Amino acid sequence: MTGDTADMLDARAAFQGAGHFAPIAAALARALDAGSHADAHPSGGGTGPGRTVLEIGAGTGYYLAGVLDAHPDLLGIALDVAKPAARRAARAHPRSAAVLADAWRGLPIRDGALTAVLSVFAPRNPAEVARVLAPSGRFVVVTPTARHLGELVGPLGMVGVDPDKDRRLADSLAATFTRAEHTLVEFRMTLTRTDVINVVAMGPSAFHGTPADDPRIAALPDVTEVTASVTVSTYLPTPSSSRRDP
Ligand SMILES: C[S@@+](CC[C@H](N)C(=O)[O-])C[C@H]1O[C@@H](n2cnc3c(N)ncnc32)[C@H](O)[C@@H]1O
Repeated sequence: MTGDTADMLDARAAFQGAGHFAPIAAALARALDAGSHADAHPSGGGTGPGRTVLEIGAGTGYYLAGVLDAHPDLLGIALDVAKPAARRAARAHPRSAAVLADAWRGLPIRDGALTAVLSVFAPRNPAEVARVLAPSGRFVVVTPTARHLGELVGPLGMVGVDPDKDRRLADSLAATFTRAEHTLVEFRMTLTRTDVINVVAMGPSAFHGTPADDPRIAALPDVTEVTASVTVSTYLPTPSSSRRDP
């Protein structure tokens, strides 16, 4: 398991830096609002230096940095299996650190230590997330819907999203979590050809060719209207699954 390449991360950073996914970052920061109050769990969930949020598969660290900007009381840990990602995410925010680890091999975090865990377009390890979250913590998951980047998927032969993804996500978390909130975040983006090259290069389709040389991208108009469509779901540990109360 090696994760994203340096080229994919460069493309992702350029796309995110252009602000196209800012509404997703804002929705994610809002999803943590209820979790940032002082009435959360007294150890992992109270205010103070112990309030830590982990992003699994953090990539560039863009979303974690957005959450930390919106929540000055939080500290962040960016975890990624890819070295270039961990290096980049380590510099994403003054209140975050980065860890190089494979989430499927376990999270190198003590039981019940975290206020929140984020997974944005990234893997999840539900049993481990349940273990590391404080009983009052929250797990916020962002997944694309089948409409995400829909105007590009067919014409450019990109890897599409399984329409059943949401149900599979809910099934995979049902044993350990209860879904508390579920928000559709959908908006239009006006993308230049460079933006399109970046959005292809940063995702799974990047493994299938070099987008900059793709005649299908060259054939696109100067700007293309493209849909961004994701769900932001907040899961709370089901009491019986919060095995230890630190
Ligand atoms: C699609 S990218 C999303 C990155 C970031 N969350 C974002 O949206 O900008 C998925 C990330 O998960 C990482 N990843 C893939 N498998 C992983 C694993 N088993 N453990 C930790 N990170 C993983 C990849 O290296 C990549 O950075």
